[in-house]
Amino acid sequence: MKLTVVGGGSTYTPELVDGFARLRDVLPLEELVLVDPATDRLEPVAGLARRIFARQGHDGRIVTTSDLDRAADGADAVLLQLRVGGQAAREQDETWPLECGCVGQETTGAGGLAKALRTVPVVLDVADRVRRASPHAWIIDFTNPVGIVTRALLRAGHKAVGLCNVAIGLQRKFAALLGVAPAEVHLDHVGLNHLTWETAVRLGGPEGKDVLPDLLAGHGDTIAEDLRLPRPLLDRLGVIPSYYLRYYYLHDKVVEEMRTRPSRAAEVAALERELLTLYADPALDEKPALLARRGGAHYSEAAVDLAAALLGGEGSAYQVVNTFNRGTLPFLPDDAVIEVQAAVGPRGATPLPVPSVGPLLAGLMANVAAYEDLALDAALHGGRDRVLRALLAHPLVGQYEYAEALTDRLIAHNREHLAWA
Ligand code: G6P
Ligand code: MN
Repeated sequence: MKLTVVGGGSTYTPELVDGFARLRDVLPLEELVLVDPATDRLEPVAGLARRIFARQGHDGRIVTTSDLDRAADGADAVLLQLRVGGQAAREQDETWPLECGCVGQETTGAGGLAKALRTVPVVLDVADRVRRASPHAWIIDFTNPVGIVTRALLRAGHKAVGLCNVAIGLQRKFAALLGVAPAEVHLDHVGLNHLTWETAVRLGGPEGKDVLPDLLAGHGDTIAEDLRLPRPLLDRLGVIPSYYLRYYYLHDKVVEEMRTRPSRAAEVAALERELLTLYADPALDEKPALLARRGGAHYSEAAVDLAAALLGGEGSAYQVVNTFNRGTLPFLPDDAVIEVQAAVGPRGATPLPVPSVGPLLAGLMANVAAYEDLALDAALHGGRDRVLRALLAHPLVGQYEYAEALTDRLIAHNREHLAWA
């Protein structure tokens, strides 16, 4: 089996490789290709990757290249984890929206729109080349904003599934609190990428007993603290939102915090410098503890599980993925991309039925799904008007004067990445 990682020079790669090594029975890799234009990062990352494989007795080959077409040739799965413009562009996304009193974040709000506009054309070009080099390959998209990027891929007819680690992170956390194995915990997970809620926490599988009320009663404070959300909010909602809902439920408070702290991009850039120094040490042959300070925990387990299921191996039958709605959530268009539990196999992902959700959740989902539609339109076709329309539709922007000001800033800060600007 051949797997290609686009953006293989990412400091996240050792997390992935550690998963490939540990879970080699689930996903037997013969060849892992790390492709990245940044050869200065690729070599230290690949060096560590090879030592991780060697230490864990994995005999798969690890190949590096900056040639995407070669890298994708004959691949069975291609994982996208690229970041157009790197942390420098992210730093901008996290900064200029604050000037208009709006959250500055890599996937949410105006910053997330900027990232979508930079990313969608690049990912579509990568996917076209993958399709030519290996028509049978599955594309697993971890590149943000995952909802919009996956929607772009699926609308262009690609064999793609979007992946995020929020659900697996909560599954692991709840399992630990409940004192059961992670595989015992099945989440009723509903929403759009980075806009999700756990509406039930079931033991044993999709038909299992819902212990969410007990979990909240017994561990509500711990969970609230972890998500950095007020405990009474969880009790009122009666469901458990992801920490990304903080940008909505506590928007103005988050903006105040962001104004007084260094950006996450600056933190990550500093972490990456340290990580790359560690990776270059020939004595290091496991993923360093420092990597846990990035947000990608359990990304490797989720990616291995998904690739294994798509390629007909031992992956879990049900997994949380991003795929077309197709009537699953009746208040959203069929071609919206939703993040829910799905049956996953070699023919792709089919969402499990979702019990009806009330207006409190459905309203926000519908609003953000409409924004995502307009964001994709702006990413595909460009133009100031389309950017403005997407921002007017975003529930965290909405106001005309802010939308105008944010549109100007978005274009000014991203000119070099936007063909039409
Ligand atoms: C989580 C999210 C990812 C996001 C990451 C950011 O893993 O699910 O979509 O990219 O956090 O982590 P970072 O370390 O880059 O802030
Ligand atoms: Mn994510």
